[in-house]
Amino acid sequence: MSVSVLVTGGAGFIGSHTVIALAAAGYRPVVYDNFSNSHQSILDGLREILGTDVPCYVADCTDKAALFDVVEREHIQGVVHFAAFKAVGESVQEPLRYYRNNLDALLTLLEVMLEVGVHDLIFSSSCTVYGTPDHLPVTESSPVLPALSPYGNTKQIGEEMLRDAVTAGKPLRVISLRYFNPIGAHSSALIGELPIGVPNNLVPYITQTAIGLRPELIVFGDDYPTPDGTCIRDYIHVMDLAEAHVSALNNLRRLGALATHYDVFNIGTGRGASVLEVVRTFEEVSGQPLRYRIGPRRSGDVPAVYADASKAQEHLGWTARRTLHDALADAWRWEQHWQKLSAQP
Ligand code: UD1
Repeated sequence: MSVSVLVTGGAGFIGSHTVIALAAAGYRPVVYDNFSNSHQSILDGLREILGTDVPCYVADCTDKAALFDVVEREHIQGVVHFAAFKAVGESVQEPLRYYRNNLDALLTLLEVMLEVGVHDLIFSSSCTVYGTPDHLPVTESSPVLPALSPYGNTKQIGEEMLRDAVTAGKPLRVISLRYFNPIGAHSSALIGELPIGVPNNLVPYITQTAIGLRPELIVFGDDYPTPDGTCIRDYIHVMDLAEAHVSALNNLRRLGALATHYDVFNIGTGRGASVLEVVRTFEEVSGQPLRYRIGPRRSGDVPAVYADASKAQEHLGWTARRTLHDALADAWRWEQHWQKLSAQP
């Protein structure tokens, strides 16, 4: 019998790709999602890719009774927790909504896991915990700096809650994964990122510009202290990121009877790319020029951040395999597929 894994936020961008990676590794993913920032059509894509229906519960992580029921009924043995609000700007406008949702969801999940006796948890954290790093690349022992947004703070507090619970001897085995910038889509183009409204993130903005939904990309600043003046990020293919969750879960399960465990890993490629490099690579991939112009800096942007991901390689046996070119090609294929799908009556 395969091991059932609850994927909270499993219909979202990273969650849905992780469902594929879990299934490919022989796990039985169970989606738990309130569809507040995800689309039913992702379930159709998952069905097509996997050739079978994925069990899916439409419910909120803060609904303890519903969560308890699913964890028990589905014989859940591990959890990958994605369900959270993630818009940085919105979190500045609506901080209490962010704290309530993201922290309540995690607390409720931990209570349910402890009551039912589920030990293994992979938590979605973010490289945002490093703020503006002094040294590059950042390692897991780089200082965690005061968060720049309530969203970032929910990730820091989440990590602290988990570490404290494990330190207190609670029977939990937890890995926090600090994601760098996830981009791309599954190579089938049947699932991908579905930003609601105007995208905040670079790659969906680029693909929507290329397909004609946006007039042009504004590059936020070209006067940063970087080789071409634009910001540098570590863009990681979402399927590489998805596979990191499987490696992390496998790692926890290899601990055998060891009762408590906490660890944290950077999940990035180890390679930084500037905004203009992403634009150029996208032009290569799509075979067409992209309309863009240089605009002012966006407040809160860090000039450069990229990962030292050697700890994940050493302890989890995981490393990113796909290139920026692969990720942009997949993102572009997905955008084209989605426009066709959404144009259908
Ligand atoms: C953001 C979040 C981060 C989150 C990540 C992935 C912030 C401060 N951080 O990272 O917590 O984990 O998204 O969802 O928001 N850019 C443009 N023009 C655009 C959009 C972006 O030039 O229209 C530039 C940005 O200035 C930045 C780079 O592209 O240099 C990447 O931006 P973005 O995709 O928003 O990700 P981050 O800001 O790095």
